[in-house]
Amino acid sequence: MQYLEATRALYAAAAQTPDDQLCCVSTPPWRMPDLDIPDVMHEMNYGCGTTVHPRDVPTDAPVLYIGVGGGLELLQFASLARRPTGVIGVDNVPEMLDVCRRNLNLAEQTNPWLTSDTVDLREGDALKLPIDDDVVGLVAQNCLFNIFREEELDRALAEAHRVLRPEGALSLSDPITPRPIPDHLRDDDRLRAMCLSGALTLEDYLARIVAAGFGTIEVRGRRPYRLLDQRRFGLQDHLLLESIEVVAYKTPVPSDGPCIFTGRTAIWFGEAHSFDDGKGHVLRRDVPVGVCDKTADQLACLSLAQLMVTDSTWHYDGGGCC
Ligand SMILES: C[S@@+](CC[C@H](N)C(=O)[O-])C[C@H]1O[C@@H](n2cnc3c(N)ncnc32)[C@H](O)[C@@H]1O
Repeated sequence: MQYLEATRALYAAAAQTPDDQLCCVSTPPWRMPDLDIPDVMHEMNYGCGTTVHPRDVPTDAPVLYIGVGGGLELLQFASLARRPTGVIGVDNVPEMLDVCRRNLNLAEQTNPWLTSDTVDLREGDALKLPIDDDVVGLVAQNCLFNIFREEELDRALAEAHRVLRPEGALSLSDPITPRPIPDHLRDDDRLRAMCLSGALTLEDYLARIVAAGFGTIEVRGRRPYRLLDQRRFGLQDHLLLESIEVVAYKTPVPSDGPCIFTGRTAIWFGEAHSFDDGKGHVLRRDVPVGVCDKTADQLACLSLAQLMVTDSTWHYDGGGCC
């Protein structure tokens, strides 16, 4: 497909010459204890958020990182895993793999814990991963899946699901759009490859993750990403793209729908010491409990005067019940 070829060409070029306009949100340099990140990895940060959440990193199964870029997040995951082949990196652009390998070699000079066998770099395609079924504890991708058209996105999600062990997690960071992006931008191969015009709405993005078989989803972050302005992009109104950080778990999708956590909580403040909704949710008086959107809606429907259900923060950070 033509746009996939355009994508490979763009990232072959971005491997040779770091491009600070490509993807990337402006955030302070990421710091972790006992980790030194070479400047060139920051310059080649082609992600639009972070997929690195320390609590997700498995101790007994590898992390698979798809679309390695300059290696920034691979190095961060490697720092958390710290064991041979704790992290596998896959990319289908040989030039990018070469640069990533070079950057990791550079990082070895200032990170004594990092050795050449900590990260296993492999040439391969997100659409046909060179990995066995059910072996990976965590799959991560940052700012790659949004480039794919729907058919390829579904295939990439199915591949991530296939290689994950049961209850394994898929960590994603991608742009989303408040309304469908017009065809003249969606069909522009270069803009798509630059992560500027392939974004889906949040609802569509999450629905495709669920359709791939992920039953539990957490929205961990959401922030402005790029403004597609009227004048330069030939639009009727400005379009503010956001970037989203999502972690999806390979758990069965419940018969009444997925559990999607967006940062909503329920707070019981009645006379009784606790409130039990009879569906497994027990709320202790005055203690906010994180609930998934499905449960939040069900609790709100009860219209109890002493039960408050809060809005999505879009920064869910664990805890709660579903
Ligand atoms: C936008 S960059 C993101 C790089 C990195 N994740 C980061 O956050 O800096 C997309 C990456 O995906 C790679 N890529 C593009 N198409 C791919 C595919 N079909 N399969 C695997 N990797 C691909 C590119 O070479 C590039 O390294």
